[in-house]
Amino acid sequence: MMLTINSRIKDIYAHPVGRDIIRKMLLQMGHSDSVVKNPVVGNLKLKALPKLSMGKVDEGFFNTFLELLNSEPDIPRTDSCSATRAWWKEAVFYQIYPRSFNDSNGDGIGDLRGILNKLDYLKDLGVDAIWLSPIYDSPNDDNGYDIRDYRKIMTEFGTMEDFDELLKGIHSRGMRLIMDLVVNHTSDEHEWFRKAINEPDSQYGDYYLFHDEPNNWTSFFSGSAWNYYEQRHQYALHLFSKKQMDLNWENPAVRHEVHDMVRWWLQKGVDGFRMDVVNYISKRDGLPDGNESIGALMGYYGIEHYFYGPRLHEYLRELKNEAFAPFDAFSVGETPGVGMEMSKLLTADYRGELDMVFSFDHLEMPEHVRFDDYKYDLNYFKKCMIDWMENYGNHCQPSLFYENHDNPRMISKVDPDPQFRGVLAKLLSTMQLTLRGTPFIYQGQELGMVNKDFTSIDDLRDVESLNLYAELCKTMSETDAFKKLLAGTRDHARTPMQWTSGKYAGFSDAEPWIGTDDDCKTCNAATQTEDEGSVWSFYRALIALRKTHAALVYGDIDIVNKKEHDLFTYYRTSENETFYIECLLSREVKKRKGKLPNGVRLISNYPEVSELQLRPYEATVWMIYKDK
Ligand code: NOJ
Repeated sequence: MMLTINSRIKDIYAHPVGRDIIRKMLLQMGHSDSVVKNPVVGNLKLKALPKLSMGKVDEGFFNTFLELLNSEPDIPRTDSCSATRAWWKEAVFYQIYPRSFNDSNGDGIGDLRGILNKLDYLKDLGVDAIWLSPIYDSPNDDNGYDIRDYRKIMTEFGTMEDFDELLKGIHSRGMRLIMDLVVNHTSDEHEWFRKAINEPDSQYGDYYLFHDEPNNWTSFFSGSAWNYYEQRHQYALHLFSKKQMDLNWENPAVRHEVHDMVRWWLQKGVDGFRMDVVNYISKRDGLPDGNESIGALMGYYGIEHYFYGPRLHEYLRELKNEAFAPFDAFSVGETPGVGMEMSKLLTADYRGELDMVFSFDHLEMPEHVRFDDYKYDLNYFKKCMIDWMENYGNHCQPSLFYENHDNPRMISKVDPDPQFRGVLAKLLSTMQLTLRGTPFIYQGQELGMVNKDFTSIDDLRDVESLNLYAELCKTMSETDAFKKLLAGTRDHARTPMQWTSGKYAGFSDAEPWIGTDDDCKTCNAATQTEDEGSVWSFYRALIALRKTHAALVYGDIDIVNKKEHDLFTYYRTSENETFYIECLLSREVKKRKGKLPNGVRLISNYPEVSELQLRPYEATVWMIYKDK
């Protein structure tokens, strides 16, 4: 059914893209989606929206919105089925940011041999698969997310021989490796881009997005998304930094290059890829201007024309058939802005596109962005999880994560009070390892690492932060601009891994490329791996538990006491066993609801669990045998 301006809001809401967008907009405006379920609202026509939103969306918004909706003819299946088995549903993934993981050659920069030296540490923790952030040749404008040569290793990280050895080391320990696939853009120093500018008539002339005039799209890293190139008298698009040039996926030659390159790495034996901003690869024909009201709402102009582009599914299917499927390789797409219904259409097992996605809806609370200084309420996490657990369905597998190299540390977002650091770390791990989905742990998370004490802009390295600082300083004092950066800078997650209490946290013999602080004195791997009560040991125990009990992987999930604020309680059940998980989401002591289930206590934050009350951030996992 074609949707038009006269369609009713309930029909728009029944459409997967409509549903995700309406929910996001309502959340951003501080409403719940139950508003739409109200028949009066549901029966309103779409054209009533500008009024309803009190001017936050304008008429122009509709064209874009309807175009987006009408270009997605599919709706996700709603049949119930049991989940099929796959190694990546059972695995615990661990993300390594190579620059900050471990330095083996004393230059202050992490490297491949450094990782090799820590494989036993990861194996010991129980990691099944490693996701390596980019290690390819790069001028490092965005720490490797600007690739100059997809088939070469970054000199600072080592050689291809080091890589081969690393891969062997990972496989010989029974672990798997997924690489980062960054193909929305390349570095402006990539040979293709050099040729596109200098030899516009060559085959590379059409590898990127050149326009005579720029549109109004903005870059995620501040300012216009266009650079001017004298040689061609044209502008080229860059959604990220000025040195990350967007590839033209419309050009079949570009897609073949990508397929070839992916096959090349899979032939080497890697097990799959995490695909950087992969939902951005298809842009709307002609690259029309972004809608003003959406731009103002989101903070970026143009995003509606590429975050779920018209040929996205087609490109993903082609990539799967040409490269992933022949190797039975795994794929997880990084898909900012994509909600649950769109995620289903990208990952359902009958669709042949991706295996999983990272959706980011749970990472910031509604009405907040990463650079806002606010306290994250875990009740919001609970709300998101209830939705994903109950409505994502068994054709799809959720990914479970709080952290990565693009976000501050979760503990700091929730409650930076040091007295709760340990229990909070354990609470987070309990939910991550017992909810339904595949957990991705970010390096240092298993130690309970927190945000850094950066004291000046000179401490920061990230291109996003530095650009934003320059931008903010146009309208506010340097002190205020720095304060804003501190809330959201990606550098919080990029400081060296804390291996020991020694100099430079045991990361390197030389001064690291980005600072360490005193935190390693009390939070480090050396101490925690020896301490049975540590955050690290807790992670290890839970990972082991998850590995030995299918109920925690494939079991049904039944969330109870849903309306009870600050409490997140659920059962995971398989044929023979049931787990009961009980989490207190705040520091307020709370009376236990009812009696404890009869069962065997396996894991808890505390040596003793009180029958009467839950202590701040307490998380307990109980196992209940069916026949008892
Ligand atoms: C997402 C990556 O995770 C981030 O680090 C990077 O800056 C952008 N994509 C651009 O590649």
